[in-house]
Amino acid sequence: MVVKKHSELDVDDLVRIVKLKQQAWPKYSIYEHLKWISENLKPDDLHCWVEDFSAYCNMFNIEIELDGVKQNALGLGNLCSGNNRGAGALLMKRVMNDPVYPLLSFCNYDLVSYYKYFGWEFIHRSRCEFTIDLTDLRVMYYGPQFNKIKYTGNKI
Ligand SMILES: CC(C)(COP(=O)(O)OP(=O)(O)OC[C@H]1O[C@@H](n2cnc3c(N)ncnc32)[C@H](O)[C@@H]1OP(=O)(O)O)[C@@H](O)C(=O)NCCC(=O)NCCS
Repeated sequence: MVVKKHSELDVDDLVRIVKLKQQAWPKYSIYEHLKWISENLKPDDLHCWVEDFSAYCNMFNIEIELDGVKQNALGLGNLCSGNNRGAGALLMKRVMNDPVYPLLSFCNYDLVSYYKYFGWEFIHRSRCEFTIDLTDLRVMYYGPQFNKIKYTGNKI
């Protein structure tokens, strides 16, 4: 497993990452993937991948509010896997063992069961005060229980 801060990523890594992301989300061009990365990752956010680039994800430093109490959290984004069975699970386990906790992620309807398989919880939008548009997105969470969650950051 390789984990690198965005500020430490070299061009070769970036090319491999963008190729893998383009396989997973072919509706975006290489250029659009590159643009998204440069606009959305801060220097300390993390890129995480399996050595052979069979799977990749980002870990974002985010802030959330649980029942009015602010706290740091980890945002899981852009999880994607090539054809290597089990590669996605390796990354998922790495993210879930990170010292930063709780975890927040967004996915489409089809992948709710994937997150649940690893113990994540689906959070209904009636419990979410988010500034991003949640249409077509499902909010997934792993951490201590709460009633309401607030998040004012970008989509991750
Ligand atoms: C979702 C994705 C990352 C899964 O990666 P993967 O490497 O195929 O997953 P794994 O092989 O590690 O699967 C781990 C387990 O989850 C199960 N699983 C895989 N996809 C699943 C799904 N959609 N729903 C429920 N379970 C699923 C597998 O069967 C496996 O279970 P097993 O170990 O009991 O056989 C991959 O399919 C992918 O890249 N999708 C396209 C990009 C995407 O939509 N990413 C999600 C962003 S929110």
